[in-house]
Amino acid sequence: MITARTRSADDTRALAAALAELARPGDLVLLAGELGAGKTAFAQGFGAALGVTEPITSPTFTLASQYAGRLELNHLDVYRLEQLTEVLDIGLPEMLDEGGVTLVEWGDSITNALPADYLLVRLSYGEGDDDRLLEIEPIGSAWAARTRAMTLALTGWLAEPPAPPSC
Ligand SMILES: Nc1ncnc2c1ncn2[C@@H]1O[C@H](COP(=O)(O)OP(=O)(O)OP(=O)(O)O)[C@@H](O)[C@H]1O
Ligand SMILES: [Mg+2]
Repeated sequence: MITARTRSADDTRALAAALAELARPGDLVLLAGELGAGKTAFAQGFGAALGVTEPITSPTFTLASQYAGRLELNHLDVYRLEQLTEVLDIGLPEMLDEGGVTLVEWGDSITNALPADYLLVRLSYGEGDDDRLLEIEPIGSAWAARTRAMTLALTGWLAEPPAPPSC
């Protein structure tokens, strides 16, 4: 797991943009963390780096938004979804097959409805009002293979220096 810290909403956007440079078609990123932790701010920075020019707004009421970019961005907020059938109704499986990148706010609440291969980003409040801690954990092989690249991309935000090589 990679642990990082940000000091403002724009800092979280910049961190997300650095991660987005590593994105590939079909990627899934789950954004976890309480209300106001910065999940939407993360999605905004991530999308901007994918070439999305349209403003990325909170999909809390729309559930899912799609944005054109270098890679298409699917941005979902499943806070209000309770049933697996609702996840299927909003077309999540199809989105994952379309070759874009899918970010799901509150995605940790529906992992049983998702493929077991995603990047989990857990945001939490830090000491100051504008401090946030981000715990970034690859689940499955797709993102695990990019752990070193992610660590390099996040130099400057890392809360702890990377562990030395084991041999
Ligand atoms: N370091 C930071 N990273 C992200 N947001 C920050 C940070 N510092 C302050 N903020 C503020 O915290 C708020 C984060 O709001 P945002 O909508 O991104 O959260 P969210 O996790 O998506 O909330 P919700 O659960 O309601 O969807 C914004 O008002 C933002 O300006
Ligand atoms: Mg949000």
